[in-house]
Amino acid sequence: MRTPSAPLPSRAQPPQHRLESEVRSYSRKFPAVFAKGRGAFLHDEHGREYLDFFCGSGALNYGHNPPAVKDRLLHHIASDGLTHGLDLFTVAKRDFLNALHDTVLAPRGLDHKVQFCGPTGTNAVEAALKLARKATGRRGVVSFYGGFHGVSAGSLAVTGDLATRAALGTDAHGTVFVPYPEGPTGPFDSLAYLERMVADTSSGTPLPAAVILETVQSDGGIYCASPEFLCELREFTRRHGIVLIVDDIFAGCGRTGEFFSFEQARIVPDLITLSKSISGYGLPMSLLLISPELDVWAPGEHSGTFRGNQLAFITATAALEYWSDAEFLGLLAENAATLERFGQQVVAEHGLSVRGRGLVVGVDTADADRARRIQERCFEDGLVLERCGRRDEVLRVLPPLIIGREELVRGLDIILSALATTAPGRAGHAADLR
Ligand SMILES: Cc1ncc(COP(=O)(O)O)c(C=O)c1O
Repeated sequence: MRTPSAPLPSRAQPPQHRLESEVRSYSRKFPAVFAKGRGAFLHDEHGREYLDFFCGSGALNYGHNPPAVKDRLLHHIASDGLTHGLDLFTVAKRDFLNALHDTVLAPRGLDHKVQFCGPTGTNAVEAALKLARKATGRRGVVSFYGGFHGVSAGSLAVTGDLATRAALGTDAHGTVFVPYPEGPTGPFDSLAYLERMVADTSSGTPLPAAVILETVQSDGGIYCASPEFLCELREFTRRHGIVLIVDDIFAGCGRTGEFFSFEQARIVPDLITLSKSISGYGLPMSLLLISPELDVWAPGEHSGTFRGNQLAFITATAALEYWSDAEFLGLLAENAATLERFGQQVVAEHGLSVRGRGLVVGVDTADADRARRIQERCFEDGLVLERCGRRDEVLRVLPPLIIGREELVRGLDIILSALATTAPGRAGHAADLR
């Protein structure tokens, strides 16, 4: 509520500032008005071009307006295809389910059923938590330090960041937070901790319904769980009848180089959340993959008006075709190798810690102010790049999966040059920029 003494919003500010809530965030870091996007590029309203290594925070893995996907969407709209369908059976949904089964699930030996949640990732997390509780009759959930799972009440309850949780304005109960096996303070034997927690009848913690984790923590600072840890966690949860939820909203859909982020570990989670890039076009879509024996929902028990985004079904079906395209798969592997070499170069030349897998790399500057200056410098040089980590000290390098080698190298060069000209620990930044 505005107090009488509070200044009125200035008319001199652009309308976005005057009219949009203070809650806006990314627009503060990237002060341009964006108008168009194609492939790996964004264009602002004045026609200035930016390489996009932010990718809609992981929602644009296939870049902006991928032509083959766009054509399908345009055709669907031009032929009066449905745009809204609740959870009715529709042609668009049937085609998507068949494509997901044939291209993704069956080849990986997964027999999970698909629940459409809506419309954003946090709703799939809510559904997963509710379902795990219903199926086990237990209430508690184990989550990890640094984990991010969304901002609705249930998802916030399993999200570690205290500032984000504080915005709930009330207590978020029911979660036991355990240190992730990797983090800013070094490695931790999370499995030993969990084993002890469930074995000790005086741990104060009843057997949980679920363990939820990201295999690559994004907001937490690009920390990766090893395949060994994931296998042990799978074995532990199975032994104790605990539901294993992998939140693949960020790391899934190819970001780590394979469709699912847990493929390297050869585990089968009980519940898998997908959103962000599953629509392949930046359209809202969110789903939960459910191991059949856990599909204990009663009809309509978790509903939502926008569960059936028909346009997203169309684009998602088209985007799944990438996964049987040898050229795409080759490019993915090539780009991942280029990023690995980039990481090695950063370690060798700047002595920084570099983490990640596949097409996600975190460059840990260990210095939030420097990371901010690097981000600003990159933006001036035409690269959109986000930060993450406990203090926003990690540069999150997130190019589109389909980026060509030349553009990838160009973007990485901008980062290398910003690293070279932006000294650590200096307060002012104007001098660093030239
Ligand atoms: C791992 C993970 N889970 C859940 C979410 C929440 O998704 P949404 O913002 O679409 O609600 C996010 C969003 O960044 C995420 O990265």
